[in-house]
Amino acid sequence: MNLKLTGNPFLNIENPKPWGPGSFEIALPLVQATNIRPGMRILEVGDGSGKIATTIAKNWNVSVITLEPWAQNNEIQIYVAEQGVENQVLQMKIKAQSLLFVDNTFNVIISIGSFEMIAD
Ligand SMILES: C[S@@+](CC[C@H](N)C(=O)[O-])C[C@H]1O[C@@H](n2cnc3c(N)ncnc32)[C@H](O)[C@@H]1O
Repeated sequence: MNLKLTGNPFLNIENPKPWGPGSFEIALPLVQATNIRPGMRILEVGDGSGKIATTIAKNWNVSVITLEPWAQNNEIQIYVAEQGVENQVLQMKIKAQSLLFVDNTFNVIISIGSFEMIAD
């Protein structure tokens, strides 16, 4: 069962900064296809601006670990705090290939526009 939403929260992001074409347009169908539900733990591979992770955390009431190996600053932490989900979103400066999580840590793994950048 999908959450009842009024509108598409990814298309209402202020100052969206997508890092790829169609990033925010594809986000809602992807989240709905994976059947994200409140309380789940989500892994996002390749967060870019962090806005997709933040929007999922806020609107689906889940926790999100999000990976950005080339994160330069604390921009995402500032944004998640502004959005009131600082306790639900954690960015890790690590590659997807280096993850050390045990099996079944996450309920859902999502990635938008990032897989083609992961060589191995
Ligand atoms: C085209 S951007 C898409 C970002 C965001 N998902 C969006 O749609 O706006 C691809 C992202 O994948 C990240 N990335 C590339 N290789 C990665 C890897 N091995 N592990 C995790 N993230 C990676 C890049 O740093 C970049 O943030």
